[in-house]
Amino acid sequence: MHFISEELEQYIADHTSAQGSLLDELEKETWRKVLVPRMISGHVQGRALAMFSKMISPQRILEIGAYTGFSALCLAEGLREDGILHTIEVNEELCEMQDRFWELSGKGHQIHRHLGEALQILPQLEGPYDLIFIDADKDNYLSYYEMSINLLRPGGFILVDNVLWSGKVVDENAQNDKDTIKMQELNARIQDDDRVENLLLGIRDGIMMVRLR
Ligand SMILES: C[S@@+](CC[C@H](N)C(=O)[O-])C[C@H]1O[C@@H](n2cnc3c(N)ncnc32)[C@H](O)[C@@H]1O
Repeated sequence: MHFISEELEQYIADHTSAQGSLLDELEKETWRKVLVPRMISGHVQGRALAMFSKMISPQRILEIGAYTGFSALCLAEGLREDGILHTIEVNEELCEMQDRFWELSGKGHQIHRHLGEALQILPQLEGPYDLIFIDADKDNYLSYYEMSINLLRPGGFILVDNVLWSGKVVDENAQNDKDTIKMQELNARIQDDDRVENLLLGIRDGIMMVRLR
């Protein structure tokens, strides 16, 4: 997905801090070994997640959709020293890679993985969280959003990934596509939600930034 020219994308990457050798290695290994590697946040979005987290200095972060553990590591950069990041992932095969990189980062003791279906795990979690990142199956995004609101502290933030859905949210030819409709419904729900203020950022595939009033 390229919303802007590849040249400008490269310029943005060239003027964004490097992510460090461990995240470089994790990204490379993801592209080499794991299915659908484009799901990884990658350099620029990863730096955005790290920057947001550092701006908030969260005590408690929740992530829905860990994949190979890349975004958890970026978000964990802003955690307070005694902070904790909970992440939910359904695919057991990814655990070995997550554990290995989380340990190498020195932040492994601050990352707690919940293995299983997010819809089943979310009701078992105790809030409040300061920051929640939603990045799992798009079918359940609306439910994840509502459940996240209930787990968030007032003044806390939710980040929702892929809200532009490769541009299909405004593509006339995609208006009957099930996932596109789901994403449009979520964006409309957030836009009309009096409980929050929101900002849609055109980073990568679109990040909806939500602050609970
Ligand atoms: C887009 S990837 C996450 C990418 C990751 N946040 C990153 O930026 O590197 C989505 C992940 O959500 C997981 N997932 C999909 N459906 C899920 C569900 N129902 N419950 C929990 N995890 C799920 C997938 O296995 C996949 O690893």
